[in-house]
Amino acid sequence: MNTLNHFATPQLELLHRGKVRDSYRAPSGERLIVVTDRLSAFDSVLDTPVAHKGAVLNGLAAFWFDKTKHIVPNHVISLLDPNVTLAHEAEPIRVEMIVRNYITGSMLRGYQQGQRSFSGVTVPDGLTKHQQFPEPIVTPTTKEESDREITPESLVSEGWVAADLYEQMQVKALELFNFASSWMAERGIILVDTKYEFGLLDGQLILIDEIHTPDSSRFWSAEDYARNPGAVEQMDKEYVRQWLIANKHDGQYPRALTPEVSAEATRRYLDIYERITGSPLPIGDGDVRTRLVGNLVRAGIMKEA
Ligand SMILES: Nc1ncnc2c1ncn2[C@@H]1O[C@H](COP(=O)(O)OP(=O)(O)OP(=O)(O)O)[C@@H](O)[C@H]1O
Ligand SMILES: [Mg+2]
Repeated sequence: MNTLNHFATPQLELLHRGKVRDSYRAPSGERLIVVTDRLSAFDSVLDTPVAHKGAVLNGLAAFWFDKTKHIVPNHVISLLDPNVTLAHEAEPIRVEMIVRNYITGSMLRGYQQGQRSFSGVTVPDGLTKHQQFPEPIVTPTTKEESDREITPESLVSEGWVAADLYEQMQVKALELFNFASSWMAERGIILVDTKYEFGLLDGQLILIDEIHTPDSSRFWSAEDYARNPGAVEQMDKEYVRQWLIANKHDGQYPRALTPEVSAEATRRYLDIYERITGSPLPIGDGDVRTRLVGNLVRAGIMKEA
């Protein structure tokens, strides 16, 4: 199979199965993050994987972790396979640092109902759909069963994070966002919003999880935005979402994509990768799982099955 929908092995302890990524404990105690080709839309994971999506996401995160390590150190130890990152296990800070430069999504819905204060940030009256803010804003949420908007003061008073650490996270999040926004703007992409997660490694603040991927961010094409800001769509997933909407039956979205739709989704992910990094994603046509296991065996993390 040319795709990776699921990866499981009795040889490694599963730490966490997310919608898209499966995390394992490496024998050394480090964290192995396997980015699969699963795609989640409308809060559920489709039955059909999207070829190369995992490698695009893992590759983009690796690209950005490397490009931004002068701003803040991060958890990456090495890329063991196009779909796998070996990372330091950090003590996670249970806060999502969301940075936004345009009003859209859940925030737009709140704004249209009259909300003006978001996680302690007051935004001006009179913003129109998808308008840019005067400057990027940070709207943190807690990381719990159901994430909630929270002010920095409450994050501290409720014990989610110490005040001085939060201050550092805020400064770093904005620096990362501005750095990536300029890079992408030069390549015709708008970084609309994104989220960062931080952790502590030997007492030092580091960036964990993923960074500036289509799963943790919204990307718009600058050209589409200039044409019609109110109608601009996410570069990666919107196409799949629209297809799901158009093919709804009895109030249910399809569980699977047709081969054509899946291939078009792949094309879009590969295009984003190439536009951002400047090089096409190297792709082989072999079996992804075989390659992956081979790479983990070579790294001494798995034994030949
Ligand atoms: N280096 C790290 N050290 C410790 N924890 C980490 C590290 N990197 C990521 N994590 C944590 O691992 C988890 C990864 O979860 P993942 O994103 O795969 O799924 P999820 O967030 O539970 O659900 P969803 O798939 O809906 O995002 C997150 O809780 C993240 O904070
Ligand atoms: Mg997550």
